Amino acid sequence: MSVEKLQTEMAAHRPSTPVGLLSNEEKDRILERSFLGLYRWYVSRSQKTRNWNPNTDFDWRNLRTDHSEKMNTILEGFFAVEQYVPDYVFALLRVIRRSHGRSQFHIRWGSEEEKHSDLWENTLLFSRFRSPEWIEEYKDTLRSQEWELPWDNPMHMMFYTVIQERATQVNYLNTGLIARGQSGLEDFAGDVDPVLAQAAQVIAVDEAAHYNFFLEGARLFLYYYPTQALEALFDVVKFFAMPAGDLIPDYNKFAAVVAAAKVYGPREHVTDVLDVALRNLGVDGRKALIKGIKRVREIPNEQGVMRTSAVLDTLDYDLVEKKVQKLFSRVGKYEEQTGHAAIAPTAFIPSGIR
Ligand SMILES: [Fe+2]
Ligand SMILES: [Fe+2]
Repeated sequence: MSVEKLQTEMAAHRPSTPVGLLSNEEKDRILERSFLGLYRWYVSRSQKTRNWNPNTDFDWRNLRTDHSEKMNTILEGFFAVEQYVPDYVFALLRVIRRSHGRSQFHIRWGSEEEKHSDLWENTLLFSRFRSPEWIEEYKDTLRSQEWELPWDNPMHMMFYTVIQERATQVNYLNTGLIARGQSGLEDFAGDVDPVLAQAAQVIAVDEAAHYNFFLEGARLFLYYYPTQALEALFDVVKFFAMPAGDLIPDYNKFAAVVAAAKVYGPREHVTDVLDVALRNLGVDGRKALIKGIKRVREIPNEQGVMRTSAVLDTLDYDLVEKKVQKLFSRVGKYEEQTGHAAIAPTAFIPSGIR
């Protein structure tokens, strides 16, 4: 065999993964293990710290019945968005059903979102803003349409839920400010209401926990699949819209009211949602993300190593790694407590990318 032919033969048999890097199968196995560990940790924490009930844990009889029309619009909008929880669960579950950690988590997440929709229903009911009959009919209208996934792949949806959960948290935190009389907005001066303040606070804490779970998941993707994950993040930031906005009647009116109320509008979306989420994901703002993706896309797809290095110029990979290590150590401590550590520990495996 000629030297040339031998070299060609060798090249053909060389593994596609460079030495020191994990194969996709290995990465997927690590991700699967990580999600399982994170999910177990999450459930324990959820049960210990956020096991509230939307009917019995609030003094609904003392909810104000004279809220402003704008506040009522806001509460009705929250109710409507959370009303699609069966679709939020079902649609994504079909995509992630093969992953134990992600699908079980998703069911748990759905059980928490289910409480949110019941909580907002109680605000409509006890404020006397809407009659039980009206609510019944409205639910029927809302549910006559089905929410569909904005992206049908697990990685994009992980980034979508990061942004969506943060946005939801911001919505509820700012509503809580109004209910505590801290918004400084003239229009809402008459909306101070301790029961509503408590409701908004309790629900915002749940959304923070959701945000954190998805954030951890998104950082796992950025750590093991930086190029694909950064592309997914870019797509999601570029095309993001809150769920069910196209299904809810009069959604534009609701969107205008929450924006004017400084609860959630374009300004809050950029400053309190995107900037915060990007920072948490190791990206230095939207401009850096757009510039970085442009550079990455200039490099042909086959140039994997060069593409990765362009990605690492955009992504604070050290920060992502530190956060991932921290996650593994948190899960590790939890598994020490449960005894899983001795049998099936969730162990940190470096990506080898840098
Ligand atoms: Fe929610
Ligand atoms: Fe949530």
